Amino acid sequence: MSFQTEIIKWYKINKRDLPWRSTTDPYVIWLSEIILQQTRVEQGLPYFNKFLENFPTVKTFAGATETEVLKLWQGLGYYSRGRNMLFTAKQVMELHSGNFPKDYDKLIELKGIGDYTAAAISSFSNDQSKAVLDGNVFRVLSRYFGIEEPINSTTGKKIFSALAQSLIEGQKPSVYNQAIMEFGALQCKPKSPSCSICPLQVGCFALKNHKVNVLPVKLKK
Ligand code: ADE
Ligand code: SF4
Repeated sequence: MSFQTEIIKWYKINKRDLPWRSTTDPYVIWLSEIILQQTRVEQGLPYFNKFLENFPTVKTFAGATETEVLKLWQGLGYYSRGRNMLFTAKQVMELHSGNFPKDYDKLIELKGIGDYTAAAISSFSNDQSKAVLDGNVFRVLSRYFGIEEPINSTTGKKIFSALAQSLIEGQKPSVYNQAIMEFGALQCKPKSPSCSICPLQVGCFALKNHKVNVLPVKLKK
């Protein structure tokens, strides 16, 4: 079985039931992705629910005051995220008449939406074939495929993003992207991953070469 097929099979059995996985509303997915940027799932969940209750649409979000947004954000940290979200919501009102874009090229033009977030929203909401590349994905790819180039060097970023994109081709993007992130979060964890019960152990470079604890390589800058 291929890397992708194993990952998807593992995902279907082991995935967590998370609310943003049962929607294709790009606004709702955006909300979840920004909240989860520097925040663990367990910590972010109640905030996600609270924001969605208070602002069920991008229109209601765009109509909020900064004080309201920051009050709801209280306790999450990185408050610039909350402020930037208000700006993004207003941009969506102005540029797209309140229809939150699902298309990668439209998303990437919005403030506060970078490559990762645009790939996440366009794949989850619209099944666009754009590979997500976050810390989880870097770790899984570097270990399994034996990529020793630093994940934060210019060359490294190019190698990882080309590999990630080649792997998503021919897969269902919404499922494959969620699957590889979840695999990194729950199975191929940063510290002591459960290699002995891993469905990818046979083909895994890091396991075979005793490099699980040194991959991925990250340069101190
Ligand atoms: N972290 C960031 N995005 C996520 C997602 N869609 N599901 C679970 N964890 C995440
Ligand atoms: Fe990750 Fe270990 Fe599985 Fe390799 S064998 S993919 S290092 S969990």
